[in-house]
Amino acid sequence: MTVKVVFVCLGNICRSPMAEGVFRHLVKQAKLENIIEVDSCGTGSWHIGESPHVGTQKVLATHHIEYYHRARQLCAADLSNADYLIAMDSDNLHDIKRQGSVHGEVGLLLDYAKGVEESDVPDPYYTGQFNEVYNLVEAGCKGLLKHIRHKEGIPTS
Ligand code: 4NP
Repeated sequence: MTVKVVFVCLGNICRSPMAEGVFRHLVKQAKLENIIEVDSCGTGSWHIGESPHVGTQKVLATHHIEYYHRARQLCAADLSNADYLIAMDSDNLHDIKRQGSVHGEVGLLLDYAKGVEESDVPDPYYTGQFNEVYNLVEAGCKGLLKHIRHKEGIPTS
């Protein structure tokens, strides 16, 4: 069994790459890398082929998370192949749904976060607040992994 998780933001250089890095790190810690595949993309095309924003690179490095990614745009294969298509904010969610029907579960990352009131991950491309965004992303990723384990019947070891 493979479970495919794809995180989606606007540019695929700040938030969704951060979520991909954090989530993959959690998946590795849980020794689930043979079961859960992780990827990310953006609804926009401006940054295709670029490395993550230096702010995202720095915050991941601070948390000892190794990460390599090149930005890519959301495509039809994501809608048909992803088991979990996870948007960073409600605009991203709206843009995903506009593209057509989705095979898997579609949701907002912070809806899986315990004890977090906001539902949109603010965009650090505009605010520069990469550390604050990291904390939100981490809370969302922890809750999402728990949700997936429960839904897919993956036991805790
Ligand atoms: P992201 O942030 O969606 O978290 O990757 C953005 C990156 C680039 C732009 C907007 C948001 N942009 O307008 O170029």
